[in-house]
Amino acid sequence: MAPIHLEDVAFEQALNSTAKQLLAYKKRSENDQEAAAIQPMAEIAADLELDHWLSEGGMTPDRYAEWLDHYLKPTTRFHNPRYLSHQVAVPDAPTALAELIHGVINNPLAIFEMGPSAATVEFAVINWMLRHVGWQPEPYEGADGMHGGGVFTHGGSLANLTALLAARAAAAPEAWEQGTPDDLFVMAAPAAHYSVARAISILGIGHRRLIPLPVDDRDVIDASKLGSTIRQAKQRGRVMCVVASACATGSGLHDPLRAIGEICRESNVWLHVDAAHGASALLSPKYRGLLDGLELADSTIWDAHKMLRTSGLSTAVLFRCARKMMSAMQQEANYIMYGNSMGGVDLIHRTVECTKAPMATKVLLNLAFRGESGVASYVQDRYDFAREAYQLLHSRAGFECPFPPESNILCFRFGTDDAQQISIREGLLKKGLFHLSSAVVAGKRYLRMSIMNPHTHADTIQQLILAIEEGHWRD
Ligand SMILES: Cc1ncc(COP(=O)(O)O)c(C=O)c1O
Repeated sequence: MAPIHLEDVAFEQALNSTAKQLLAYKKRSENDQEAAAIQPMAEIAADLELDHWLSEGGMTPDRYAEWLDHYLKPTTRFHNPRYLSHQVAVPDAPTALAELIHGVINNPLAIFEMGPSAATVEFAVINWMLRHVGWQPEPYEGADGMHGGGVFTHGGSLANLTALLAARAAAAPEAWEQGTPDDLFVMAAPAAHYSVARAISILGIGHRRLIPLPVDDRDVIDASKLGSTIRQAKQRGRVMCVVASACATGSGLHDPLRAIGEICRESNVWLHVDAAHGASALLSPKYRGLLDGLELADSTIWDAHKMLRTSGLSTAVLFRCARKMMSAMQQEANYIMYGNSMGGVDLIHRTVECTKAPMATKVLLNLAFRGESGVASYVQDRYDFAREAYQLLHSRAGFECPFPPESNILCFRFGTDDAQQISIREGLLKKGLFHLSSAVVAGKRYLRMSIMNPHTHADTIQQLILAIEEGHWRD
C-alpha cells in the first residue's frame, strides 16, 4: 500500500481518535486494578512493530489508532490512586492542551522573535514565581538588573547546573575564560539530589571538592555546625556555594533555610536552595512556612512537573539578582546573539539550551483553568493527606515510619530487614498492585511514597497495608 501522508483531513481524524483513546485511557487508569504494567523491552518492541515502522513507514490514521492502543498498555498509570512512587505529576488536563499547541505551532522561544507569545508567557510565569519566593519581579521593559530573574529549563537537573554556573561566576569570574580554578569548594548534605554532585563534576570542580555538610539523625543539615564548616573550608580555598534542599528527594524533609541563609549571608557565601519538589508549597498558607528563609537564598529551582501538575518537563531556575544570573553564561554567537530591537527578552542568554520548548505555557494554563487557589488546594490537600497516611501506617503493628512527613513524601518500613523493603516494592510493582519507591534515610532502607494522585485516600492506604501484611508481594 502506498504511504499516506498525514495531511489535514487525516490529521484531524488522528487527533479525534487520540483524544478519545486518551480520555478512555485516563478513565481506565483511574479505576483499574493495575497501577502499572511493565513488560520486557523486547516484547514491547514487537507489540509496537518498531522494526516495521522505523524502516517501512506507511502508517495510516486507522493503523495509528491500533498502534496507540499498544503504546498505552505498558505504561505507568499516574492516574491510578495506587501510583505512589516518584514525584512525577498526574498531569492536569490544561497541560495537555499546551503540549498540543506546541506540537502544532512549534515556537521555540529562546529568541523572542521565534516565539513571542511563548516567551512572554514564560517571562510572566517566572515573575509569578519570583513574587511567591519573595523576590522582585523583572520589568518587561528591562531595568538595572538588581531585581530577580529566571528561566525555564528542561528539568531540575539542568536547573541545578544553571544555578551552580551562576554561583561559579560570582565566586570565580575568571572561570569562564580560564577554566575552573582548583580552589573552589561546594557544600551540600549527602541527601541533596544527585544532580547537585553531578553538576559539580560537570563544572570541573570535581567530586573531591564537594564538602559533605554535617547533618542530624534525619539527614537534615545541622545549621549549628555550618558556620564552622564554612570557616574551615575558607582556610583551604574559596567556598563557591552551599546547597540546601526543600525538600530532600528521599525523605521529603526540609533543611532549615532561615538559619542556613543567615549564616551564608554573614559568610558572604552563595546559597542555592533546591526546591524542585517543595517550592509549590509556597502557594499554601498552611505549609509555606516550610520554606521560611528561602528569600535569603541567591538561587532556587522549582519543578512545575512535580506539584504544579504539568507534564514533564517544566522547571524554573530563579535568581534573587538578575545581574548575577546574567553573568553565568557569556557566549557569543553572531548569527543569533547580537542584540535586537524586537521588544522582548531573549531568554537564550540565561540557559544552556538553544532551541527551547514553551514549558511555562503548561503552568499558565493549569493556573488559568484551576485558579491559583485551585492549584494551592491540591498541594495543601496532598500534604495534609501524607500526615493522615502517616497516622495509619505508624499506628499499625509491624510498620514503622521514621519521622512525621513534612511534605507529600512519606517513608515507612514493614519489619526491620532492609532487603525485605526492596522485595515488597518489586513484588507489588511486578504484580501491578502498587507502585512504590524506596530510599535510604539515615542509613536504613525504607519504602517511600510520593502522594501525587489527588484520588489517593485512606482506603488506598488500607489496601496497601493489607497487601503488604498478607504477603501479596511474594511470588
Ligand atoms: C530535590 C530534587 N532536585 C532535583 C531533581 C531533579 O529534577 P528533574 O527530574 O526534573 O531533572 C529532583 C527530582 O526528583 C528532586 O527531587
